[in-house]
Amino acid sequence: MHALILKSTTVPDLINEITTALEQSDLSYGHGMETALDEAAYLVSFTLGLPPDFDPYMAGLSVTASHRDAISGLLQKRIEERKPLVYLLGETWLAGYKFIVNEHVLVPRSPIASLIQERFFPWWIGAEEADAEPIVILDLCSGSGCLGILAALEFPDAEVLLTDIDPKALRVAEQNIAAYKLQNRVSTVLSDVWRQIPLGQYDIILANPPYVPQHEQSELPTEYQHEPAHALYSGGDGLDVAKKILASSSQYLTADGLLVLEVGESADALEQHFADTEFMWLALENGGEGVCVLTAQECKQFAS
Ligand SMILES: C[S@@+](CC[C@H](N)C(=O)[O-])C[C@H]1O[C@@H](n2cnc3c(N)ncnc32)[C@H](O)[C@@H]1O
Repeated sequence: MHALILKSTTVPDLINEITTALEQSDLSYGHGMETALDEAAYLVSFTLGLPPDFDPYMAGLSVTASHRDAISGLLQKRIEERKPLVYLLGETWLAGYKFIVNEHVLVPRSPIASLIQERFFPWWIGAEEADAEPIVILDLCSGSGCLGILAALEFPDAEVLLTDIDPKALRVAEQNIAAYKLQNRVSTVLSDVWRQIPLGQYDIILANPPYVPQHEQSELPTEYQHEPAHALYSGGDGLDVAKKILASSSQYLTADGLLVLEVGESADALEQHFADTEFMWLALENGGEGVCVLTAQECKQFAS
């Protein structure tokens, strides 16, 4: 590919120029941003040091040659390597909060984020009672730590444990914990599902495990091949890790506790596997499918 030369001198023109270049390149979206226009706007805000929700017509900034050079280098990589943009920038946003990311963590995009910001209403019995907030929260398969950290920000008195099988993912989570100055109540543990989780009583367990069937790996766009395979794929039906989570969750929940489990498009396979269970699939504020909520009592049926 020839060097990509950008010519625009105003912010709106630059966004249009980048959007066109992206749209002509047959890329896949959905890694933090849904469209070419969203990616173009983010590239510009990142490079010019603007807030992500800036108004391009109000920005009133002139675009310099060094801005254009910086953006064209990133744009060229995005197009040639088909790498999710947020890996190139080293950061992304979820539910209004910025998270550090690299290729050791899945790009944060879980719909569970909106349920956290709705304070698990109406599922958590204490949702409307200030004195009944969740005290201990576990984020299983935490990746960048985004979900556990959002929960910590939403419930300022809660203690949160983030756990993942990948030590490199935990390093990223620790950077995010430090970025939000949450070291006093958010911690990490390296664990294969439950293996190293301290026995305890968690009010909320958040679980966004890998859930894509292994055979789909070759069918997904190149952008997904840049994400850690063990963050996406989990056995023939996609449910290896989810089944282990279900098998023991009742041992770790308080009597009023909740398990929030995301299995995405593998929801049908989960229903078929546990044919006697009526799963409560949520309709979430910002869309997203395959998230269910189970009470501690309901989790007992999966105990092995
Ligand atoms: C779908 S990603 C979710 C990351 C994060 N919760 C998010 O929403 O962005 C799944 C995570 O599970 C971790 N994982 C995979 N297998 C695991 C296992 N057996 N035990 C614990 N974590 C595991 C991966 O390393 C990855 O970080």
